[in-house]
Amino acid sequence: MITFDEVTKRYPDGTVAVDRLSLEAPTGEITVLVGPSGCGKTTSLRMINRMIDASEGRILLDGVPVEGIDPPTLRRGIGYVIQQAGLFPHRKIVDNVATVPYLLGWDRRKARDRAMELLERVGLDPSLAGRYPFQLSGGQQQRVGVARALAADPPVLLMDEPFSAVDPIVRTSLQDELLRLQAELNKTIVFVTHDIDEAIKLGDRVAVLRVGGTLAQLADPKTLLSRPADDFVREFLGHDRGIRRLQFVPTSGLELRTDLAVAPGASGPDGEPWHLALTPEGRPAGWVPRDEPERLERYGTFVLGRDSLRSALDAALLSPSGCAVAVDGDGKVVGVATRDALDRALAEAADG
Ligand SMILES: Nc1ncnc2c1ncn2[C@@H]1O[C@H](COP(=O)(O)OP(=O)(O)OP(=O)(O)O)[C@@H](O)[C@H]1O
Ligand SMILES: [Mg+2]
Repeated sequence: MITFDEVTKRYPDGTVAVDRLSLEAPTGEITVLVGPSGCGKTTSLRMINRMIDASEGRILLDGVPVEGIDPPTLRRGIGYVIQQAGLFPHRKIVDNVATVPYLLGWDRRKARDRAMELLERVGLDPSLAGRYPFQLSGGQQQRVGVARALAADPPVLLMDEPFSAVDPIVRTSLQDELLRLQAELNKTIVFVTHDIDEAIKLGDRVAVLRVGGTLAQLADPKTLLSRPADDFVREFLGHDRGIRRLQFVPTSGLELRTDLAVAPGASGPDGEPWHLALTPEGRPAGWVPRDEPERLERYGTFVLGRDSLRSALDAALLSPSGCAVAVDGDGKVVGVATRDALDRALAEAADG
């Protein structure tokens, strides 16, 4: 656990970058610091590994003040990932990843083996190991940056806008990869971003900071979206806060109709304008309009119980019938959520 206890950072020119910040980043969780440019995110992060020292207050690592730990020892237990990866341009990828093990005096062979294992772990082809950073795409470099930070298996990872320099599609896959890794590794992660969507996606807890380095709100993403502490947080969250909150509403309680999904060649229930045709394997084939039984229209699906109400709504909007197709983990149809059922679920979500 990392604890900020009334931490203030005043730079020599008088700028107060962080102002009496108190918060905890629990062990094994991702704590996100988010806020506008200049609100003190980087300064806060760098005070943890003592690249910057606090002016007042204390930062504790599992109860031990970091000011009492000499920086090289401290940093051995803390991986650090920055924007644009910050790789050494003149070193091969494998040697970049093995940087810290080399510094720790590991046997060269062991360090390289570890680096190769990590490259695979972060989703990189091991054949890239012999290249130099400039021979990699931005997204690949960023993965190398993550692998390098993990090399000595530190319990703590500090990540400063690690994915902000890549395009949205690559960013999404890097975020997914980080969540997958974290499910295995359970590191204590402090992640800095100015992107609220990234914060909500990645954070177990999200700390919203305002310029001047004060804490506006610390909450889990769901609470943040449903109960922003003040106008600043509300504005920072943006306008589709209501819709985004639906990503935390489960679909397990949705009422489904099974009569609207029919076997290949069969006709739909009487009086229904649409029915869903199934493949012989029980997967969706398409929506069939009552008066044109030969037509198959597109459909949207969501995985019942795993996907959120937001996904179910999205699936409904992708279907001409206005209904969302519920499937199981194997893609087989378990039922159909009609507009009415979605409406009721929405009304319930609004109440909660
Ligand atoms: N060495 C320094 N001397 C004086 N002021 C500084 C110094 N470094 C940062 N600052 C100021 O401290 C404040 C916080 O800076 P910091 O880099 O922590 O912000 P940030 O939240 O990371 O911003 P960004 O999103 O733009 O990266 C800013 O006003 C910045 O100008
Ligand atoms: Mg910064």
